[in-house]
Amino acid sequence: MENLDKFIEGMPKAELHVHVEGTLEPELKFKLAKRNNLDLPYASVEEMRAAYNFDDLPSFLKMYYEGMGVLLVEQDFYDLTYAYLEKARSQNVVYAEIFFDPQAHTTRGISYDTVISGIHRAQMEAQEKLGIKTQLIMCFLRDMTPDSAMEALEQSLPYKDWIIGVGLDSDERNNPPIKFAQVFERARAENYLLTMHCDVDQQNSTTHIWQTLNDIGVDRIDHGVNALEDAALCDEIKNRKLALTVCPISNGYVTDSMKTTEIKAMLEKDIRVTVNSDDPAYFPGYMNENLIATQREAELTRAQVIQLTINAFEGSWLPTADKTAFLQKLDTYVA
Ligand code: ADE
Ligand code: ZN
Repeated sequence: MENLDKFIEGMPKAELHVHVEGTLEPELKFKLAKRNNLDLPYASVEEMRAAYNFDDLPSFLKMYYEGMGVLLVEQDFYDLTYAYLEKARSQNVVYAEIFFDPQAHTTRGISYDTVISGIHRAQMEAQEKLGIKTQLIMCFLRDMTPDSAMEALEQSLPYKDWIIGVGLDSDERNNPPIKFAQVFERARAENYLLTMHCDVDQQNSTTHIWQTLNDIGVDRIDHGVNALEDAALCDEIKNRKLALTVCPISNGYVTDSMKTTEIKAMLEKDIRVTVNSDDPAYFPGYMNENLIATQREAELTRAQVIQLTINAFEGSWLPTADKTAFLQKLDTYVA
């Protein structure tokens, strides 16, 4: 098998599935805790990392929500976002669509404005100084009520120009897509694009994926690996040209596998599958590590690695002219 590590590292890439709060590295957690006069339940970075031993989605989410307690003021959200963008740019990520979870902060008494202003300021500065382009996606927490999601949607409206779309994350168990049908209908009416997590190996996974298509009308699906269990579902996703944002290292933590065989199977079916990092501070690995792990484990060809990146640019929520420009940049690199 060809060693494609260097090729992957140098390739201009897009990331479509990363939670900004999931990029909070232990070192930054300690720095912010000190700045905000907060005590952490760990003596050191090493001790904190050692506690990241989740084996399913709920055990990860508990640590994830606990961790973001150090984010209090606008500068914290700026520092968090800018640190991720520096890391992403160092890996030749030239474009990223970033999730944030406003309800996880407003329920702690932090204003919507504090959260989004810090994130947005970092996005603008990183575009100017680092040359990385980004767009923001607001996620609703599916284990909270539809009323709470609707409230977050209303809070977002003054900042509509800063947000490209909405998503749905957190614990999927007993929280199906249709629970949020009205919220997503309203989001669509406000001109937001729509995506939803269909996490891996959940109860009723394929039913949930069908709901995102038939009851919600999503423009993308986050994860969605279990679609492979249903041929008609695969056909529908392919015909609609929907991107699936799969996160192999994350999958390896919350299930028994990185699902790289499934990623390869989707490539072979011409489904618009992409590889992403999800929560890289918790599931260690940014874009390069995720792509390299996938390529090695599934023995992907160079052409398949390139296809994953083409899929990401084509499946992105960029205007056509920007997609064309990024694809051109990729072409030049490949040549
Ligand atoms: N929130 C942050 N990461 C998530 C994931 N992988 N699944 C569901 N919700 C999340
Ligand atoms: Zn995710």
